[in-house]
Amino acid sequence: PRDHNLYRYKGFCFLKDMMPPEFIDSLQNFKIRDDDVFLITFPKSGTTWTQQILCLICYEGHRKGTEKIDTTERMPWFESQTLNPVSDLNSLPSPRLFVSHLSETFVPKELKNKKAKVIYVMRNAKDVMNSLYHFQDILALAQKSPDFNHFFEKFMDGEVFAGKWFDHIRGWYTHKNDYNILFLKYEDMIKDLHSTVKQICFFLAIELDDEEIDIVVKKASFNEMKKDPLSNKENVPDSIITRKVGSFIRKGQVGDWKNIMTVAQSETFDKIFQEQMRDLSLSFTWQ
Ligand code: PPS
Repeated sequence: PRDHNLYRYKGFCFLKDMMPPEFIDSLQNFKIRDDDVFLITFPKSGTTWTQQILCLICYEGHRKGTEKIDTTERMPWFESQTLNPVSDLNSLPSPRLFVSHLSETFVPKELKNKKAKVIYVMRNAKDVMNSLYHFQDILALAQKSPDFNHFFEKFMDGEVFAGKWFDHIRGWYTHKNDYNILFLKYEDMIKDLHSTVKQICFFLAIELDDEEIDIVVKKASFNEMKKDPLSNKENVPDSIITRKVGSFIRKGQVGDWKNIMTVAQSETFDKIFQEQMRDLSLSFTWQ
């Protein structure tokens, strides 16, 4: 890959320093518990947002603001070895919540027991690309693309962390019958967060009353999260995310790609999208 922080492995692009291949392979044998919940996304698809929603739904202390625990602590990043060694994940109390960007081929085999649950959030690729492009500005370690065109090509070639967006979506979507999985779309969440929260509660078999649901919706709103230092990852060391030039919770809009993508790039994308996704009964909202 053009980015020297990444390496390709079995069709995916991993972070070189954090995720050696032996470690990635070992994740397949990770012991799953029936009440585990995995949030899985391609990066920049609404991970942090859904993490916040899940923590609000699952923890009363989070809803009431009586416990100030970072969502990344409540919900560790599954494949990040340096941030959380797997042995620690085994000792976490149930029910466990994990977040992951892994493609379908790399997740623990036992997830297919269909008792543990998977929530897969997807977002239209043009906004994902745009969001990821801006993320390079604040990600201290990122090898920045000099311009959007360079980045566009890297993204289309799958030379970004997590690899090709098309493959990620396809993998999870075509294997949906193997998992107990709920698919959500970022754009639907933007349109009607209240319904999304209810949908998640139903999927997790957690009963919240109307008042509690309203609190979840409010505390997961863009404005609330943007001003919350923990959601905005302000506790992450400056050596990883630097906030001098922007914030992690950035714009949170549908269609912001139009501010960066040329008509020609957009048409190139549309053509490839048609070719690669034609056979999937999946539609995206682009604006
Ligand atoms: S990461 O790095 O993969 O975990 O990034 P991820 O959290 O998946 O995506 C970041 C984008 O999600 C937006 N975001 C939100 N949108 C709407 N409402 C809320 N509450 C919210 N929280 C985060 C965030 O702004 C990033 O999108 P862009 O388009 O860059 O604004």
